[in-house]
Amino acid sequence: MSPTDKPFFMPTPWHFNPADKPVPHPDAGQGFDTRALHTGWQHPLEDLQKFKTFVPPIVPSMTYPYERFDKIPYPVYGRTKTPTAALLEERLAALEGGEAALTAGSGSQALFNLIFTIARPGDNIVTSLNIFGEGYKQAATIFPERCHVEFRFVKNPADPKSWDAEIDAQTRLVWVETPSNPTLFVTDIAAVAQVAHARSVPLLVDNTTVTAALQRPLELGADIILLSITKFLAGNATVLGGAIVGPKALIEDVRWNTTEFVGAIMPPFDSWLTLQYLETLSMRMARHSATSRQVAEFLRRHPAVRHINHTDLPAHPQYALAQRQMSGAGGLMSFVVPGGIPGAARVIDSFRLVTHAVTFGTSRTICMHPPTITHEHMTPAERAAVGIDDGLIRLSVGLEDPADIIADLEQALHAG
Ligand SMILES: Cc1ncc(COP(=O)(O)O)c(C=O)c1O
Repeated sequence: MSPTDKPFFMPTPWHFNPADKPVPHPDAGQGFDTRALHTGWQHPLEDLQKFKTFVPPIVPSMTYPYERFDKIPYPVYGRTKTPTAALLEERLAALEGGEAALTAGSGSQALFNLIFTIARPGDNIVTSLNIFGEGYKQAATIFPERCHVEFRFVKNPADPKSWDAEIDAQTRLVWVETPSNPTLFVTDIAAVAQVAHARSVPLLVDNTTVTAALQRPLELGADIILLSITKFLAGNATVLGGAIVGPKALIEDVRWNTTEFVGAIMPPFDSWLTLQYLETLSMRMARHSATSRQVAEFLRRHPAVRHINHTDLPAHPQYALAQRQMSGAGGLMSFVVPGGIPGAARVIDSFRLVTHAVTFGTSRTICMHPPTITHEHMTPAERAAVGIDDGLIRLSVGLEDPADIIADLEQALHAG
């Protein structure tokens, strides 16, 4: 048997065809919480079933023995598939309502692997400046300089025509992050999907900030989902991981033509932890949403707050769209204090309960200063275009009692 006879090695590169009907996950008819608890385990992978356990086992093996010379086991090696990661992938696909999923070492790596798989020198990808910091760095320098893949940032992401204007025959992907980190800009998924599909280009939506518990981009016309598992999906900064969800042909293209070489999928223990955390995702997101709303109401009335970004406040520029597209705001928000960087530093250093650290989506409330930490590579003009003021503080509202979070904000704003 030659390597090319192996059905899962080097699958044919995926090509987007807008006429292809999206294939829903077989569990799509079940409720979200039922899928979060059961998918992939009610009818588990044959080998795992032998254990007859209630909780899925962690299978740490990174290699899988051949039964005989030409009978290839599957999984075969831990860079591309292990039983525990495969179960997590199945569950993520089911929660997003997609056909298949593939994990990666982080959300940033999941994005890298996707782009590296589908774009060639001379191609371009259309996105906006409303994207996370490492995504921006990949788009602004890494891919253009090293792979000659151009990224085009649309001028007015609120206008579908502006997205259309950047697409041409070399566009391989339209990439939207909504709501965006850190300013919670909301992009109209259905409208941008329509524009992309009219030009035969697939739409990628980064669903990290609110998760499938609050927003289902595939149901609105998106083709591919990007996830950082590190954030709300795992929920307490004990796991680093990412995933893409989409058509099986794309997922296997990325798995065998990129992940196989740059390694790797998520490790078994981290996959297993994530499976446990996903069981409570919708309850956590409901609580994050309710508490962040109370925090936003408090900050809205506070004299030391100049501006606030929260998708549940009617003053949000895309409030109506956010209400239509999402079923809750989630825990991520941001606000601007006077005094630029020193003003933000004073408030951040005055927090007692709220922790100053990189990441968001944690069970404990966490804050961060995007202009100097995650979005420092953007030019000042680019930061201004997306509302990343020097006084901007990103707040990821956790699961503590709301009154205690508000009390800490009150004293920090007073001290600042
Ligand atoms: C919206 C969004 N997507 C993806 C990522 C990348 O995730 P990770 O930190 O797991 O690489 C981040 C990280 O901040 C993010 O904010």
